[in-house]
Amino acid sequence: MEWNADFYEDKHGFVADYGKDLLSHVPDNPGQAILDLGCGTGALTQELLAKSAHVVGADASPDMVRKARMLHPDIDFRVVDACRMPWSNRFDVVFSNAVFHWISDQKALLENIFRVLKPQGRLVCEFGAVRNIHRIQQAFQSSLSRQKRHHENPFYFPTVEEYRKLVEQAGLHPELVMDYDRPTPLKDGENGLRNWVRQFFASDLSPLPGAGRIRILEEMESALPDELWDGTQWVADYRRIRVIAVK
Ligand code: BEZ
Repeated sequence: MEWNADFYEDKHGFVADYGKDLLSHVPDNPGQAILDLGCGTGALTQELLAKSAHVVGADASPDMVRKARMLHPDIDFRVVDACRMPWSNRFDVVFSNAVFHWISDQKALLENIFRVLKPQGRLVCEFGAVRNIHRIQQAFQSSLSRQKRHHENPFYFPTVEEYRKLVEQAGLHPELVMDYDRPTPLKDGENGLRNWVRQFFASDLSPLPGAGRIRILEEMESALPDELWDGTQWVADYRRIRVIAVK
């Protein structure tokens, strides 16, 4: 997917806010090397500096890395594909928030993480679990079908059992693999849901004529309020999987 870093920073900054809780799983150790994998615009990379001075932010999107460098000029940010990382035995911690569900080749991802970690190094990550955004995706799919289109799910939202097995197969030892509901308020009041859909389902929406796109957004806003509108804001039905694993 094409990432627009300015739009993301403005409307989806909450993603980093929720990642702050995950930071508590990163040990405090000024000498350790930390990789923030899928760092986006660098908000959590900046927070990781409180844990160690040796932090690298990596993201596959050049636009995100451009913005991250602009916002945090003192941090080392790189454009890197998580499935083809250029390091071996380099990091004590690989940290990642809200990224892995975008990656289809999980085997390659976890093998790369194993390789870049030092012995005893630690993976600390969180992303979408099974049934993440289930209601939003259902409403989107129903609306697209009325325009004779199909929504191909681009995301990977695993169960705890499935992911534990993948982590073990990559040679890592899971200390914690858990999932939980994390209802997530979207910014911008009444516009929150349509902002989200425009950003994250852009590839499904962009081939449609303008009127078709508007119809989908309006139909979703009519279909979902009982479940996802709390009276003042849209609350997305996020579910998270959290993984701590050691090499
Ligand atoms: C998530 O963080 O769970 C997510 C964000 C955008 C699209 C799909 C899932």
